[in-house]
Amino acid sequence: MKSATIILPTYNERENVGIIIPQIFEQEEKTPGWEFSIVVVDDTSPDKTAEKVVELQKKYKKLYITSGQKAGLGKAYVRGFKYVLTNLKSDIVFEMDADLSHDPASIPLLLQKIDGGADIVIGTRYIKGGSIPKNWEFYRKVFSYCGNLVVRLGFMHLAVHDWTNGYRAIKTDFLKEIIPHLDEYNGYVFQIALLDRAVKLHKKIEEVPVHFQERNSGVSKINSGRYIFDIVRYIFQHSSFIKFGIVGLIGAVLDFGTSFFLIEKAGFAIWMATVISAEIAIISNFFFNNFWSFSHKKVENTRSSFLKSLIQFNTISVGNILIQAILLQGATVFFPREYWYIYKVIIIALVIIPYSYFLYNKVVWKKK
Ligand code: GDD
Ligand code: MN
Repeated sequence: MKSATIILPTYNERENVGIIIPQIFEQEEKTPGWEFSIVVVDDTSPDKTAEKVVELQKKYKKLYITSGQKAGLGKAYVRGFKYVLTNLKSDIVFEMDADLSHDPASIPLLLQKIDGGADIVIGTRYIKGGSIPKNWEFYRKVFSYCGNLVVRLGFMHLAVHDWTNGYRAIKTDFLKEIIPHLDEYNGYVFQIALLDRAVKLHKKIEEVPVHFQERNSGVSKINSGRYIFDIVRYIFQHSSFIKFGIVGLIGAVLDFGTSFFLIEKAGFAIWMATVISAEIAIISNFFFNNFWSFSHKKVENTRSSFLKSLIQFNTISVGNILIQAILLQGATVFFPREYWYIYKVIIIALVIIPYSYFLYNKVVWKKK
């Protein structure tokens, strides 16, 4: 028998726990081979949610509660994870809102994917078959959808469609690996930090569609402004793609600066100045990418593997230059030559950036 523990973070959810806890245990019958426990992580809710849970414990033997002080959703989940790891034997841990926004009827679907070999399964609102409430105000729909799009594009990881929804099944083994790294994310951004870890550690991530219902009763504790700020900050600090863009900009400044100096001040031939400055930019890009953008998979610190990667990087970069030269020259055959800088920007955005980012990931900084 395998066991799954559903973690329910609660802050003033007295009404809702009385409904959701029985609903979760009902799902046990529909998942042969699995037994359930529930851990309520309550932050001493003023509405006495804990009292209600203690009352329910008389009926449900595998219902547990850990009480603490309010320190945000991330802290609550980490406390719940630690509780499971020290007190219960569990193969899987579920994240789930206690306000009935997440329908317990989807639990068997998530478990099916775990049985199929996934390390982490996400209940996703933004794939076919999933949804957000129809009656949400327009701004809320836009906020939720765009928030996720920003994260997907920010990480350039389009395969995950819902980074923020807190309905997930996670293998306990993976949790053990990452718990030490989750401590600093107190609020809702912890959801993104956890998934980002899963992606970087090459865990098998699957999605199942879920309908997100408007909460049953009580109020949301989310602070949208704070959440947006935390998300943007997290992406800037952790996205290889954004860092790769910044490194590219630094490279461009070095390239132009060196060329300017060599051509205007030192009297070098243009071709010679171009070769030198392009190579300086390439080497700078390589080092910054290795120790910053792709630092989680940096090349081994031996001279030979370093040299090999630098040569690979150079080859790809020379490929960039050729592609750019050919496409730009080609563009001026069909369009007015005087607007060359517009074509250059378009080519860099649509061809060079995706091409080089893809190849750096597949060749120079590939999975370990
Ligand atoms: N213990 C504890 N401590 N629980 C908390 C805290 C806290 O500081 N903050 C929120 N919770 C609990 C709530 O009681 C609820 O059960 C669950 O966490 C979700 O909180 P809501 O306040 O209902 O958040 P939401 O509905 O606005 O946000 C949900 O949707 C977001 C995406 O749209 C959550 O699933 C988020 O994770 C998700 O990002
Ligand atoms: Mn909610």
